[in-house]
Amino acid sequence: MRYELDMPGRSIIAADARLDVGREVRRLGWSRVLLVSDGFHEAAGRVEEMSRLLEKARISVSVYSRVNCEPDTKIVENGLSQYQADGCDAIVALGGGSVIDAAKTINAAAHNPGGVKQLMGVNNVTRPCTGILAVPTTAGTGSEATKVVVISDSENAVKMTGRDRAFVCAVAVLDWKLTMSMPPALTGAVGIDALTHAIEAYVSRQANTFTDAMALSAAGLIWRSIRRAVENGNDEDARRDMLTGSFLAGIAFSNASVGLVHSMSEPLGACFHVPHGLSNAMLLPAVTRFSIEVAPDRYACLARCMNLADEGASDERCCQMLIDELYRLNRELNIATPAAYGIDKSDYQDTIEKMALDASKAGSTANSPVVPTIEQIAGIYRSV
Ligand SMILES: [Fe+2]
Repeated sequence: MRYELDMPGRSIIAADARLDVGREVRRLGWSRVLLVSDGFHEAAGRVEEMSRLLEKARISVSVYSRVNCEPDTKIVENGLSQYQADGCDAIVALGGGSVIDAAKTINAAAHNPGGVKQLMGVNNVTRPCTGILAVPTTAGTGSEATKVVVISDSENAVKMTGRDRAFVCAVAVLDWKLTMSMPPALTGAVGIDALTHAIEAYVSRQANTFTDAMALSAAGLIWRSIRRAVENGNDEDARRDMLTGSFLAGIAFSNASVGLVHSMSEPLGACFHVPHGLSNAMLLPAVTRFSIEVAPDRYACLARCMNLADEGASDERCCQMLIDELYRLNRELNIATPAAYGIDKSDYQDTIEKMALDASKAGSTANSPVVPTIEQIAGIYRSV
């Protein structure tokens, strides 16, 4: 047996952990940081608060808050230009997965020759990088925990994935109070994305003892708190569970891979502009129903950790509960179907073949418990 694990060098999980950022940056020996964020956090005053905290620790700050929800090569290149022009030596990211992905990519680009596109793909970052310090404000993508980035090509809008140790953060600062401003719909969709990371990492063919522990504990935390976090955004215990769960699930999938939900979610997002969390949520119950019979013991174990069945319940009973409960969660959280999201039925039908082909070629499909045929993937798209 052999496995390699990549995760942030240091992680702080606490209410008000953001107040520690200045101290952490000083400890790392950084003196001039590019603070990467977005318009939402700028308008909410959080960028200013973070700048003040850094400056109080005698760190110079250059603010780059132009990241949007689908960061592309242009956004990364502009950030890189500012990083270089202002003589920065490190990066702090404050935001959701898009902001952290952009920041991780700017950082890799700052340490490597060639363009942003050359950093995409698997293990294509050739020179060592100082990792960034990330402060997530959503509980979903787990980007602060992973060695993965998703960046669009600004020339053709194609999403590119980069996977490399260089994309692992030096420090992750998890302050669940920052996630309390997420509206209910976003909390639900990105929360199901995090749950999907935990489930897919646990049933992945690349799973190992370490990722299993992370995935099971993530699934338990997320399941017990997702409804409460959606119903009452100020429920601190629920927000803490969701952020911790999404972090654990991020470490799990970053080291064990995701699976068919993510393979199918990507084309759905690309063809119909469905946000990542929502497209995963649309697919999770149907893909679980499809995959469950080849790994009933693994899925049953997840169901037990999610407290869905009594102690003595059979694997079969646990699996049925898991499927039923995933469908029920989608209904209760008002997760839209593709039709309810506004996708035209005939456009959708006409695109299924292409989406199924693209999903079959995605790397994570081969790590799923069942490797489906293109026709089977098309059948799942039809069923949702
Ligand atoms: Fe995801």
